[in-house]
Order: sequence, then C-alpha cells, then structure tokens
Amino acid sequence: MTDHYAVFGNPIAHSKSPLIHAAFARQTGQDLDYTALLAPVDGFVECVTAFRAGGGLGANVTVPFKQQAHALATRRSARAEAAGSVNTLHFLGAEIFGDNTDGAGLVTDLTRNLGVVVEGRRILLLGAGGAARGVIMPLLALAPAALMIANRTPGRAAELAVHFRDAGPVEGGGYETLAGASYDLVINATAASLAGELPPLPDGIFAADALAYDMMYGRDTPFLQLARQAGARTADGLGMLVEQAAEAFFLWRGVRPETAPVIARLRAG
Ligand code: ATR
Repeated sequence: MTDHYAVFGNPIAHSKSPLIHAAFARQTGQDLDYTALLAPVDGFVECVTAFRAGGGLGANVTVPFKQQAHALATRRSARAEAAGSVNTLHFLGAEIFGDNTDGAGLVTDLTRNLGVVVEGRRILLLGAGGAARGVIMPLLALAPAALMIANRTPGRAAELAVHFRDAGPVEGGGYETLAGASYDLVINATAASLAGELPPLPDGIFAADALAYDMMYGRDTPFLQLARQAGARTADGLGMLVEQAAEAFFLWRGVRPETAPVIARLRAG
C-alpha cells in the first residue's frame, strides 16, 4: 500500500518538495506519494487533521504555518524546541511528533556540499525571524569563534542572542554595529531577498575567502550580487532545501536518500 505524505503552506503551488520526495522515493524504492496542499491561512489545523484522518503518515510545513505546527505537535524534538517552530510532522497513532530539519539541512549543505569549515570561524547571521532562529543551535554546535546576529530591528537580534547565550559565543544587534567587522560566513536569513532588497551591510563585511549564503533559492538576489562584487563565494538555499527534505524523509522512512543527484537535477532546471 502506498503511504501518503504532504507539504502544507500558503502559497504552495511552486513548492519543489513533491519533486524532491518523489526522487527520494524512487531512489530508495519506498512506496509513497507526496503532494503539495494549500491550506487556508486560518485553516491549517483543519487541513492537517483531515489529511491525518485520510491516512496521511507525515507532513512538511512551510510558510506561514511553522509556528502553528509547533503548537499542534503533541511531542517535539529538542531541535524543534530550540527553533521554536516545526517543519516536519510525523503522525504516530494518537501522537503528533514535531521536528525541525531546517538547521540540519543548512549545516549539511554548508559542511558536506560546500566544504565550509565553521569551527573557529566568524559567522554573521542576517535576520532574527523564524528562519534565523532555526539555524542558531545547529551553527553553534559546530563551534564557531563567533556568531553575530544582525537585524533591522536590533532588539530582536539581541533577544535571540540572550536566548542562546549558553549554547556558544553569540551576540546580536543592529546593522550599524557591523562597521569595521568582517566574517568568514555570512548567511542571509532575512525576508529582504523576497522583496528584491538588501540588508544594509557595511563595506568589508566579507573576509578573504568568505562564503555568502542566501537561504532563498532560485534567484540571484541583491545579497548574492553584492557578495560576488566583493569577491566572496556565493551559494543559494537550494542545497538546504534538499537536505532538510532528506532529513524529514529519514525521520519518516528510516532511510537516508542521496541528495547530490537531486540537487544537480533541480539546478539543471
Ligand atoms: P521568517 O520566518 O522567514 O524568518 P519573519 O519572522 O517575518 O520571517 O522574519 C523576517 C526577517 O527578515 C526579520 O529578521 C526581518 O527584520 P525585522 O525583524 O526588522 O522585521 C527581516 N527583513 C524583512 N525585510 C527586510 C529588509 N528589507 N531588510 C532587512 N531585513 C528585512
């Protein structure tokens, strides 16, 4: 019997997750289907409940429902608790297990696919919303020399830094505090790229051999353009997308798919 999975979001039409999970299923010989389901902005819980009642075994959750998914889960992984949001649900009888695979997806893309060394390096994280929060613990676990969180609303970055201070050398503030500093890895977790905008980064922010990583994928963002002009190496978030999916697939099926061929296929368009 074919097992059913889905991704819930709004909007959802352009989601690449069905393609990715179909490729994983083919590659690993797992009998499952995976569909993209549009949930009304005020109807997420009802949609998930109906999907479960229809035999769904698990789901991914994307914008704007990750916080609601966190609340809906009856049990959560430590990394979902740290992230404060859930992108993966696993329905186990009466239980709804909530996980967050975004941070692991980023870290795998950085370290395995892009060959980045985080240990002992200086990291700058742009943004202090849900996307930024989800990657702080996994980044700190790699023992950077420093993790600076910069945000348009400085107080949000400062709050995150206080929240995670026991986990590593993390600080937070506004963009003006970055003057004169440089970083080996700069990660854009703001929503600025969506609007074709650029966080106000001072000159010299990219250290020699720095990597600029935009969590957004599929477009050459102003952030990536700036980084390239400054001589930095660049990467978009496509690898993170595939790696977070692989982590969810592993949670559901106990099998780790190979991600490289799937990333290559998506890049080829
Ligand atoms: P997400 O869950 O995607 O992180 P969010 O919680 O709404 O979404 O957070 C969006 C982030 O992008 C915030 O850090 C936001 O800055 P503020 O906290 O000051 O709102 C940031 N952001 C959005 N548009 C931006 C822009 N044009 N320039 C810089 N930062 C921006």
